[in-house]
Amino acid sequence: MAKSAPSFACADCGATTSKWAGRCESCGAWNTIHEETPLSAGPSGHALSAVKGRTITLSGLDTREDPPKRTQAGVEELDRVLGGGLVPASAILLGGDPGIGKSTLLLQAAARFARGGLKTLYISGEEAAEQVRMRAQRLGLTESPVQLAAETNLRDILTTLEAERPQLAIIDSIQTMWSDQVGAAPGSVSQVRAAAHELTRFAKTRGVAIILVGHVTKEGQIAGPRVVEHMVDTVLYFEGERGHPFRILRAVKNRFGPADEIGVFEMTGRGLAEVRNPSALFLSERGTPAPGSAVFAGVEGTRPLLVEFQALVSPSPHAQARRAVVGWDSGRLSMILAVLEARCGIPYAGLDVYLNVAGGMKVTEPAADLAVAAALLSAREDSALPDGAVIFGEISLSGALRPVTQAENRLKEAKKLGFTSAILPAGGKAGDGSGLALNRVTDLAGFVGEMFGA
Ligand code: TYD
Ligand code: MG
Repeated sequence: MAKSAPSFACADCGATTSKWAGRCESCGAWNTIHEETPLSAGPSGHALSAVKGRTITLSGLDTREDPPKRTQAGVEELDRVLGGGLVPASAILLGGDPGIGKSTLLLQAAARFARGGLKTLYISGEEAAEQVRMRAQRLGLTESPVQLAAETNLRDILTTLEAERPQLAIIDSIQTMWSDQVGAAPGSVSQVRAAAHELTRFAKTRGVAIILVGHVTKEGQIAGPRVVEHMVDTVLYFEGERGHPFRILRAVKNRFGPADEIGVFEMTGRGLAEVRNPSALFLSERGTPAPGSAVFAGVEGTRPLLVEFQALVSPSPHAQARRAVVGWDSGRLSMILAVLEARCGIPYAGLDVYLNVAGGMKVTEPAADLAVAAALLSAREDSALPDGAVIFGEISLSGALRPVTQAENRLKEAKKLGFTSAILPAGGKAGDGSGLALNRVTDLAGFVGEMFGA
């Protein structure tokens, strides 16, 4: 075999280059370029079509064909995020920080799938089969017919899969798998890429659904699963803040269902428990309305979700005032502070600003702008917002408020949870029959005047 020339790859995004550089040109990350021995060229397989060069017309597709038969785990929070259940022969990536609960979630899911009659194989590259069994014991899952294996060699895994022919195989984790055809360390980009490629190909050709676990690391030697994201059908992220018991399973890509769907779980001593009514949970720690607290009526995927924004504003002892955010985009916070200053004449210079989403939730919707602004104003003025009010609305740079999607859905959830009023952008008739007292706001300056008499 001819020795192939060395190449370099970014451990973050997987981009390859022919020479080393301190910064990846593709994603801009520093110190992520490492030397890789490229994959030796082998016979490439075609997963899509067995007949070379044949094409079909879109209109000629047989539409009578049934949609893929999905299998439900019976864990509603997981099934919904998958788009209604597990699709046969699909490849799924579950990413998340180490220790967030990926193995626990998948072992519990595997047990449910297996109990439902799906032949399920759980392959751990991180723990011995005995350790996995002990974990299953802690989770009360010992009665379930999941098959366990502890392997890291890709060839052995493929042999096992070929022999066992499960309907679902879970590979925990992709970073521990290695192929002897790739001359790089396990966890390197080329190993992760090769293993993911082989496994997803196996999934497609043999009709096995595969779930790959991928650790996300900020920087460093281990390849992030972003390299793998392009290869799979569905990408799920498991997230949460350390110290909070809540975990969010989020679909960021799904060929078989809506993206942005979330499932909410609570960590317990006996594993993850489903949270059917997350709004109630995220608001449960809320006492009497305090200055700086605003309840945002949000939507995650198809589900409304109420969360509490908390802001703290205090005179800064530093030359440069601090801005610290948890659960919300810091760039967006700066933007809202700028709009408050420029359009409403309320400066935050010289003030430290802290913003937090209660319960460890991450909010990405621009619809939360008005709730953030309200929390910031309420904290600065040291005056609580109206009791029993939810808030939503996007703020533009001019200070005008823009209507947001699914207003009805948001209001319905607020009503269900006992809220009595809502502050929302003017325009549209959304919420007329909601039973809530509506305060429709045209721009931020008007809102400030009304609320705080500025
Ligand atoms: P683990 O599933 O091993 O995380 P990951 O596979 O993402 O690295 O979970 C980490 C630790 O947290 C593990 O010691 C078990 C514990 N844990 C619980 O006790 N209860 C739970 O509900 C979860 C999810 C984890
Ligand atoms: Mg694990």
